Amino acid sequence: MRVLSGIQPSGNLHLGNYFAMMKRMIEYQTDHELFCFVVNYHALTTVFDAEKLRRQTFEACCDFLALGIDPEKSIFYVQSDVPEVTELTWILSNVTPMGLLERGHSYKDKTAKGIASNHGLFAYPVLMAADILLYGADRVPVGKDQKQHLEMTRDIALKFNQTYGETFVVPEPDIPDSVAMVPGIDGQKMSKSYGNTIDIFSSRGVLKKSVMAIKTDATPIEEPKDPDTCTLFALYSLFLDKNQQKELRERYLAPGLKYSDVKKELLNTIWDTFTPYREQREEYINNPDRVRKIMAMGAEKARAVGSDYLALARKNVGLNYY
Ligand code: ADP
Ligand code: TRP
Repeated sequence: MRVLSGIQPSGNLHLGNYFAMMKRMIEYQTDHELFCFVVNYHALTTVFDAEKLRRQTFEACCDFLALGIDPEKSIFYVQSDVPEVTELTWILSNVTPMGLLERGHSYKDKTAKGIASNHGLFAYPVLMAADILLYGADRVPVGKDQKQHLEMTRDIALKFNQTYGETFVVPEPDIPDSVAMVPGIDGQKMSKSYGNTIDIFSSRGVLKKSVMAIKTDATPIEEPKDPDTCTLFALYSLFLDKNQQKELRERYLAPGLKYSDVKKELLNTIWDTFTPYREQREEYINNPDRVRKIMAMGAEKARAVGSDYLALARKNVGLNYY
């Protein structure tokens, strides 16, 4: 089975990105064919500073490598190193109804937030469909916010296959309930654009500040607390197995629990979990030539698969006139 997902190089990685996508991708690579990439063409829709885009793309590559993507085993690349995806985007655009894009939540949310509307932002889901269909992916691990984009990809693939004959694999979204929507420190969805993230590679000082700012209710220490409505509980649970979650739940239900104690434990857990990766990341950051070579190898492997699907699509729509 082919598993594929991408992430925008748009800033620091947070716990939502890690648990919904990166950690699961890294686990999949042991027994699946994995395609993982940094979507810098998508980032062009909102980042208009070339140096910033370059730096963030490089850092996103280092993040994934440090967290354990194995470039020998998996196909790990930067989106723009396989420019075939833009040709497929154009081909797919012609079987993408305007109405489908007009219903896009992500476009509506971004423009409502004041991001300038442009054609790239509007057509973003078609490029995402091309990312997925170019490689015949079966399964796409993402968070719930990407569900509609996956539905659009499926609609586009079905419409293409109906119009031109079986060409593309229709992919399945992979969104487990436990990580579908990781809350931020204010209890809303954790997101870079809401300023409520806990970043996995931040300094100890910054991490402490975010963890201590997790919103909790005003239940007095001597009263039992409700784990099911507590953001702190939800975030800590991401790091715990079933038994540990049960123990934490029991501590909540007994009188005497101090939220500040739980926050200190969570701070240490996050710090310790990411310490080995933080060290690895520094090594990659300080070794750009090594990273460049790895990414070039990944692009070559991705291109080999992508060019076959693109050739088939070109033939099926009639671009091979000779
Ligand atoms: P952000 O909303 O912070 O800009 P991205 O759009 O870059 O995050 O998301 C990258 C990946 O992480 C996607 O698969 C997305 O679904 C997932 N993701 C982001 N935030 C969350 C969250 N709070 N809960 C679950 N998944 C998330
Ligand atoms: N739109 C996704 C996000 O913002 C990123 C993305 C682009 C993606 N192409 C993809 C995710 C293909 C999965 C598969 O997070």
